[in-house]
Amino acid sequence: MTNRRSVFSVVTISALALLGSPAPADNKKITLGFSQIGAESEWRTANTKSIKDAAGEAGINLKFSDAQQKQENQIKAIRSFIAQKVDVIAFSPVVETGWEPVLREAKAAKIPVILTDRSVNVKDDSLWVTFMGSDFVEEGRRAANWLVEKTKDNAGPINIVELQGTVGSAPAIDRKKGFEEVIKDKAKFKIIRSQTGDFTRAKGKEVMEAFLKAEGKKINVLFAHNDDMAIGAIQAIEEAGIKPGKDILIVSIDAVKGAFQAMMAGKLNVSVECSPLLGPQLMSAVKDLMAGKTLPKRIVTNEGVFPAETAAKEFPNRKY
Ligand code: AHR
Repeated sequence: MTNRRSVFSVVTISALALLGSPAPADNKKITLGFSQIGAESEWRTANTKSIKDAAGEAGINLKFSDAQQKQENQIKAIRSFIAQKVDVIAFSPVVETGWEPVLREAKAAKIPVILTDRSVNVKDDSLWVTFMGSDFVEEGRRAANWLVEKTKDNAGPINIVELQGTVGSAPAIDRKKGFEEVIKDKAKFKIIRSQTGDFTRAKGKEVMEAFLKAEGKKINVLFAHNDDMAIGAIQAIEEAGIKPGKDILIVSIDAVKGAFQAMMAGKLNVSVECSPLLGPQLMSAVKDLMAGKTLPKRIVTNEGVFPAETAAKEFPNRKY
């Protein structure tokens, strides 16, 4: 399920023509500045590795910066890439808003910007060339659709607790939206608690402990916006003497190896895929840009859903 066919939107632009940016002289290595969010999850570690490996393989000079979850660090990194006159800037924005000033600076310097994994919320779409990554709303829908099917013979009520991703981030906003869209007209489902676990195992465990303290055995389902928070929560559930995957159904997103191990152990019920393997696609977009080619404005990753029953068979094929 990790094949990476992409769906292109009809809107296309020739970014270099638009920005008036010159291609590097013949034989000069392309320099790409990449600002990563941090290392909050198994997903993010795999994403960083994919980008570094792909840059090496493509012969692209990568300037990599880790923002340690802070938007201000990403803004500093982008400003430093502009000062160093890199050929292309790419980044995965920790939150959606607040990017206009720095993106305008990149545009004024005629440096094209590629968004990977997460998008930005800016009025002027000409501030970035292309956005490659998952459809997070659809991931939320897929998680809820699995739950609806799994519980179709249960009259309810079905009490759900939700571990949200980083506040203000595109995946947290969109996954919540997609999940709620599916359950909103089904009265038996009720989200009784919803709080951020910041996409980390430690925070996922801590918040789940608080949910269990407040709601105890009333909890039927955990919807975690990523696998790491689900894995942290599983620990909290076990420590409370409750069986994860049985007494509480657990639905999460990413489909990292850790989630497959939890599914094979019967502790996680389903993981909706979100592929971090964006490196090769990013490097070919960078090369295309520098060659003056037209890029699609949106490149959506093709992904699947892995219920626990499929985990043992799929595990050997997993790349992250
Ligand atoms: O933006 C993708 C999300 O960020 C992944 O689901 C999560 O694990 C990561 O930290």
